[in-house]
Amino acid sequence: MSKKRVLSGIQPSGKLHIGNLVGALQNWVKIQDDYECYYFIADWHALTSQYSDTSQIKESVKDVLVNCLAAGLDPEKVTIFQQSRVLEHAELHLLLSMITPLGWLERVPSFKEKQLEVKDKDLNTYGFLGYPLLQSADIMMYRAHYVPVGVDQVPHLEITREIARRFNNFYGEVFPEPDALLTQFPKVPGVDGRKMSKTYGNCIYLSDSPQEVEQKIRTMTTDPQRIKRTDKGDPELSPVFQLHKIFSSNDEQVEVAEGCRTAGIGCIDCKKVLIKNLMTVLEPIWERRLELLNHPDRLEEIISAGSQKAKEAASITMSQVRKSIGLFNLM
Ligand code: TRP
Repeated sequence: MSKKRVLSGIQPSGKLHIGNLVGALQNWVKIQDDYECYYFIADWHALTSQYSDTSQIKESVKDVLVNCLAAGLDPEKVTIFQQSRVLEHAELHLLLSMITPLGWLERVPSFKEKQLEVKDKDLNTYGFLGYPLLQSADIMMYRAHYVPVGVDQVPHLEITREIARRFNNFYGEVFPEPDALLTQFPKVPGVDGRKMSKTYGNCIYLSDSPQEVEQKIRTMTTDPQRIKRTDKGDPELSPVFQLHKIFSSNDEQVEVAEGCRTAGIGCIDCKKVLIKNLMTVLEPIWERRLELLNHPDRLEEIISAGSQKAKEAASITMSQVRKSIGLFNLM
């Protein structure tokens, strides 16, 4: 029986952090044996908002690739590629744009939200409006059945399903309607308690040194009402405890929660346990990162071979797309 196809992507818009690790990468690794997986670096998507200053994109592409591999993605099992190396995505995006009602794109919540949120850039562009459609092209290109993403991406998946249906109605059954494979993880808090995000500057990056990670946890916000060592705290109000829920064993969670409520332990004791567990997760990743960064030629080889494989799959879809629409087949 052939495996179902999975596709997912990461936009290279800065260094990856532990939120990306537990929210995406670990999940990608977990399913790499169960599906035929295509994972890619969405550098054209980064361009939709970083078009006026592209200087960070290349470094971010490299950071994403290194972290994907360091987190355990195996290029022998999955296809890892870079969007801009598979030009077919641009062709499919263009063809899909012909059948996409403007209202569908204007209604996608991220369109208005991000325009309001981002004040230092003009996002009133054709490319930015088309962001979800480019994502649809990414997904449809590999006729993916499942798309592992977080809940924030659900509207993009919905529009993809609508576009696939509309295409099939006009031109014949070419595309399956993809489903989200929702990543069930609580939002990872940053060191200030807000959602971990590079715009807030509260991230623990995968590229941080052990010293930086330790320092960031040591100075992290806890229950704001627990001021003195003898004050009793409420672990549920502490972002440190939210990280324990992700990185610590059940026994440790019970222990630190109890210690917090009774003032049996101090915040630093609690943080030490978290630091130890975070190090256990990050150490093998750091080791592989170092090894990979010392072999840039190997990185280029992996992304180039992956992009070639993706291109082969994409060109099969595109032949069918052109034929269905009625282009190029003069005879
Ligand atoms: N929009 C996604 C994000 O910001 C990135 C992305 C681009 C993507 N194309 C995709 C994700 C296709 C899944 C499938 O996270």
